Amino acid sequence: MKKRVLSAIQPTGHMHLGNYFGAVKNWVDLQQDYECTYGVVDYHAITMPYSPEKLRNATWDLLINLIAVGVEPQHLFIQSLVPEHTELCWIFNCFCSYGQLTRMTQFKDKSSEGKGEDGFISAGLLDYPVLQAADILIYRADYVPVGKDQEQHLELARNIAVRFNNQVGKEYFVLPETLYTETPKILSTADPTRKMSKSAGDKHYINVFAEPAVIRKQIKSAVTDTGDTPAGTMSPGVQNLFEMLKACGEQEAYNSLMDTYHAGQLKYVELKETVGEALVKLTTPFHERKKELQANKKEVKDQIKASSAEIRKRAQETVKEVKELAGLMNVRY
Ligand code: AMP
Ligand code: TRP
Repeated sequence: MKKRVLSAIQPTGHMHLGNYFGAVKNWVDLQQDYECTYGVVDYHAITMPYSPEKLRNATWDLLINLIAVGVEPQHLFIQSLVPEHTELCWIFNCFCSYGQLTRMTQFKDKSSEGKGEDGFISAGLLDYPVLQAADILIYRADYVPVGKDQEQHLELARNIAVRFNNQVGKEYFVLPETLYTETPKILSTADPTRKMSKSAGDKHYINVFAEPAVIRKQIKSAVTDTGDTPAGTMSPGVQNLFEMLKACGEQEAYNSLMDTYHAGQLKYVELKETVGEALVKLTTPFHERKKELQANKKEVKDQIKASSAEIRKRAQETVKEVKELAGLMNVRY
């Protein structure tokens, strides 16, 4: 039997190269050998201040983007069309330590960043990783392809699974493991001391669906030397450019520029030009596919609604079994 893979992404802003090289590229590649399920997690997206009108559009847009880069529509679901995730989340809340939640890095970061003028931080933000655990465990996933930043959340999901299994006296949930790509952490080209991310502002990410001219320009202005790199080591900015080149599948160009670097003769302009072109070559077919999908939006929507309904059946099965094991009510009692 094929091993199960589950991953998810929030419909907040653009899909950037960090998302793609860190996670989504793996989503596409794993489809051949695993039973894959991928979610667009809109319940997670409402844990931070947001606009309801924009959310629904962002959800469809992200789904189209995912299909455009090669995710098969039958593997995709929308989280709010599978409400069992929130039911399992409630049960898991009672198998999760409050202290561990308050210590999550993402909660600490986002609770300082997300505070509006009134200092509002939602309880949903604290609970975010429990819902994520529900996303994963509800499909009994063996593997979770994500970027490095999700490691702590996966640890929490395993803790919940162990606690639940102990309580019910059965190895019901498998313990999910992360799957990383070769590039689990892409850095911001504008500031290579931080990861590429949409929350840090426009210049800190490169949109997979940006126009070629924009991509070239962003790579051209990438920070290469921050001045504090010890002699004889490659600066994080340069390393980041090399990693993106390799992730584009341009092994030959990578090897040849790496040789030039080791010979002390690398010109950053040349590296940037090569990376810019590699990214344009990689993303151009994505753009074309996206245009086609946008022209058939109704079909895409129908397809995703149908796949969500199909995937929901598996979620319902798990929740039924969990309630049974946890001493909650099913109609037969
Ligand atoms: P998010 O956009 O935060 O919902 O992230 C979606 C996926 O992309 C998750 O699996 C993240 O771990 C991954 N990801 C986000 N930013 C980066 C980055 N800079 N480098 C590598 N992976 C990332
Ligand atoms: N927290 C993840 C992120 O920020 C998104 C996410 C939600 C997720 N549920 C998940 C990732 C389940 C993997 C599996 O990227």
